[in-house]
Amino acid sequence: MTRVLVLNGPNLGRLGTREPEVYGTLTLDEIRATLESDASDTVQIELRQTDDEATLIGWLHEATDAKSPVILNPAAFTHYSYGLRDAVAILTSAGVPLVEVHLSNPHAREEFRHTSVISAVATGVILGFGADSYRLALQAVLSRLP
Ligand code: DQA
Repeated sequence: MTRVLVLNGPNLGRLGTREPEVYGTLTLDEIRATLESDASDTVQIELRQTDDEATLIGWLHEATDAKSPVILNPAAFTHYSYGLRDAVAILTSAGVPLVEVHLSNPHAREEFRHTSVISAVATGVILGFGADSYRLALQAVLSRLP
């Protein structure tokens, strides 16, 4: 069965209580449960979170080697991590889809959030729909499965 990696960057482990007016009240565990129910038996969902850039890059290399599609919320790394961007480029240039997701709409927020160094090398981007951004990304991944 295809495994979809749902990778989450820094501070997303705090979802549920982190600025709920911006990010909503669902925890990552609750988002995982929603995705698992949407995926039914089609794919296996593996959701991970780290505050560490090197760990996130390692998981992208793992996805490249296993050819696992990725849903990625790079969180603050979105705006400045060229290391993460290069790891995403390695994955997508190998033909593996990666959807960049954001709970909030960064373009409607502070200026520094208007730039994503990831988007140009992602397969596609979904932002601003709260936890539904992840569900929409999963639909996009499912529709691209062979
Ligand atoms: C975020 C947006 C980023 O700007 C921010 O640093 C996050 C979360 C989002 O999901 O809306 O941590 O990626």
